[in-house]
Amino acid sequence: MTNCIFLEQVEIRLGGAQIFSQLSAEIQQGEFIGVFGPNGAGKSTLAKSILGLLPVASGKISVFGSSPGRNNHLIGYMPQFRTNLENTALSAFSMVAAVAHGNRWGLPWQGITLKKEILEVLKLAGAMEYAHRPFSVLSGGQKHHVALAQALVGKPRLLILDEPLASLDPGNQMRLIQCIKKIQTSTGATILFIAHDINPLLGIMDRILYMAGGNAAIGSVKRILTSQALSELYRAEIHVIRAEGRIFIVAAEGNVTETARHA
Ligand SMILES: Nc1ncnc2c1ncn2[C@@H]1O[C@H](COP(=O)(O)OP(=O)(O)OP(=O)(O)O)[C@@H](O)[C@H]1O
Ligand SMILES: [Mg+2]
Repeated sequence: MTNCIFLEQVEIRLGGAQIFSQLSAEIQQGEFIGVFGPNGAGKSTLAKSILGLLPVASGKISVFGSSPGRNNHLIGYMPQFRTNLENTALSAFSMVAAVAHGNRWGLPWQGITLKKEILEVLKLAGAMEYAHRPFSVLSGGQKHHVALAQALVGKPRLLILDEPLASLDPGNQMRLIQCIKKIQTSTGATILFIAHDINPLLGIMDRILYMAGGNAAIGSVKRILTSQALSELYRAEIHVIRAEGRIFIVAAEGNVTETARHA
């Protein structure tokens, strides 16, 4: 396996405040990494800094061996907020085509090849059935599949998916996860999957990156999801409870953390 993302003692500061520091991780090509942590932990910030959209205050990020931003053509990104085109009359197909055109900015129209690629990504993302319906009439879950298809344009080697499960029911969460797992195995892409609920992703992820309290830890589910490891991250007493094959994260004072809220 080759190195896909390399994070060395990374510190990010925004608006004068430290968001997180001392984040070190080596993510290999083809790994499926689940990224978890409470609201405001810095998950989206990390995604943006890997894309070179936010500066690093100290430490180093390298993506496919170069500084962030230089290899973005190898990255498919599904941002957390995707509402700006909510009411468009464009079909899902056209929405993906628009991204495909953007990717080839400056190149002449590539007719059949381009159409073939658009159909391919719509199929990979499981969105073929409604590809020709207007985007605005699609359900929230269907829109997620179209956004995934957009992220797949250009055969990315790294997919950064920021909360693709948000507002999906458990059945649709599983469908989207299976779809992404299939993409990982069939294309060998690295997956950075940001989510709040660990449970639907158990058995799917290779490792997890858990962010909390300005700190982060990366490792296997078994190693990171322990009361001791999470208490160190949160700097508070946290209990990890395993029951019925599921994991619940509970603060000592009885508040269930974000991670387990939807479990
Ligand atoms: N441009 C900015 N200027 C100042 N602070 C910012 C900026 N962008 C984000 N932040 C702050 O950085 C922190 C981390 O935000 P981020 O969006 O990365 O959290 P998150 O882990 O993705 O949370 P959520 O689960 O709610 O999506 C938050 O406290 C947020 O308010
Ligand atoms: Mg976020």
